[in-house]
Amino acid sequence: MNKAIIVTGGAGFIGGNFVLDWLATSDVTVINLDCLTYAGNMENLASLEGDARHIFVKAGIGDSVVVRGLFEKYQPCAVVNFAAESHVDRSIHAPEDFIQTNIVGTFRLLEAARNYWNTLADEDKAAFRFLHVSTDEVYGSLKKDDPAFSEENKYEPNSPYSASKAASDHLVRAYHHTYGLPVLTTNCSNNYGPYHFPEKLIPLIITHALAGKPLPVYGDGQQIRDWLYVVDHCRGIRRVLEAGRVGETYNIGGWNEMANLDIVHIVCDLLDEFRPREDGKSYREQITFVTDRPGHDRRYAIDATKIEKELGWKPQETFQTGIRKTIQWYLDNPEWVANVQSGSYRDWVEKNYAERG
Ligand code: NAD
Ligand code: DAU
Repeated sequence: MNKAIIVTGGAGFIGGNFVLDWLATSDVTVINLDCLTYAGNMENLASLEGDARHIFVKAGIGDSVVVRGLFEKYQPCAVVNFAAESHVDRSIHAPEDFIQTNIVGTFRLLEAARNYWNTLADEDKAAFRFLHVSTDEVYGSLKKDDPAFSEENKYEPNSPYSASKAASDHLVRAYHHTYGLPVLTTNCSNNYGPYHFPEKLIPLIITHALAGKPLPVYGDGQQIRDWLYVVDHCRGIRRVLEAGRVGETYNIGGWNEMANLDIVHIVCDLLDEFRPREDGKSYREQITFVTDRPGHDRRYAIDATKIEKELGWKPQETFQTGIRKTIQWYLDNPEWVANVQSGSYRDWVEKNYAERG
């Protein structure tokens, strides 16, 4: 077994941040397996060009031949599985890809990992880890005064996306229980930060505001999410990989519940400060309330006590510091924004928002 890890989905938002963060502090080679869907972007990894510690492989996690070959060739000590279809609204319009990647893909990746793991010597077998990156959405929706999700909450997924992630979590659990594969699962809340694809709430609001477009708020805007700066999530995953107990799941969150409308107001107010509109009015003027997401979960909240107590992880950014960094990053990277807003991105925005009136 080598000092290499396979990271899947490492050209996406969180996976890309993870790879950059990993290689900033470690010389363990990253085999980055990503099939580059609309959400995958090699520009996220531009700073690694020519870096021999980063090996990019363009293929899907469901491509068993390629994946088996990677295990054989690189003999990795761990897999960190980020690859997924990740956007709830897209899962409502077209669920099929979610089933294929999140369920079938994860199953095939687990099979390849299990076959490889069975060939290892005892010591390497014990050291190997399969870390599956999942979401708080598998727990369903909380009522206003419910306690935050702990690892003991039952699974009650409500969207095709969260149902497909829940299915993948169950497969990961079963591969440990049945075959002994040393797995770990993390369930995290909403991330934000650099390289966030601008069809998700925060980067959509920033980019639409700057472009003078309407800022679409679904329903009454009082849905609550817990927000975590992406680099804090990456650090949490590393900590679980290093020291998490095999077979366990760890919730990761920012202790930062906020209503969507409050998020939109904060983004507008910071843009008013950083890049005021030419007419002197606030970006809040661009807010429009649009038809709600079908089956929209009302509230998510994460109880991160377990990872904090067991593994000593805590978020380093508050929302106030993280959102300022994020907005500054989008202001500093207009080319990245322009390049991801390709034809297919524009098609999606037209489709999603035209239907909302
Ligand atoms: P993303 O959509 O930005 O990126 C997904 C990446 O996976 C892309 O690079 C894409 O090309 C790649 N990919 C998709 N299908 C693939 C396949 N079949 N084989 C290989 N690569 C494939 O997603 P993200 O927001 O970075 O989320 C990453 C992971 O974290 C997902 O598993 C998601 O469920 C989970 N998660 C996300 C959040 C969040 O707030 N974004 C929060 C908690 C958990
Ligand atoms: O909770 C973790 C999840 O967070 C991850 O598992 C998902 O991969 C990730 O996409 C994210 O899901 P959400 O559905 O919470 O994220 P999104 O950015 O799409 O929406 C955040 C909230 O904002 C949600 O309540 C819907 C609302 N929203 C979203 C968009 C795109 C709007 O009001 N207007 C919008 O235009």
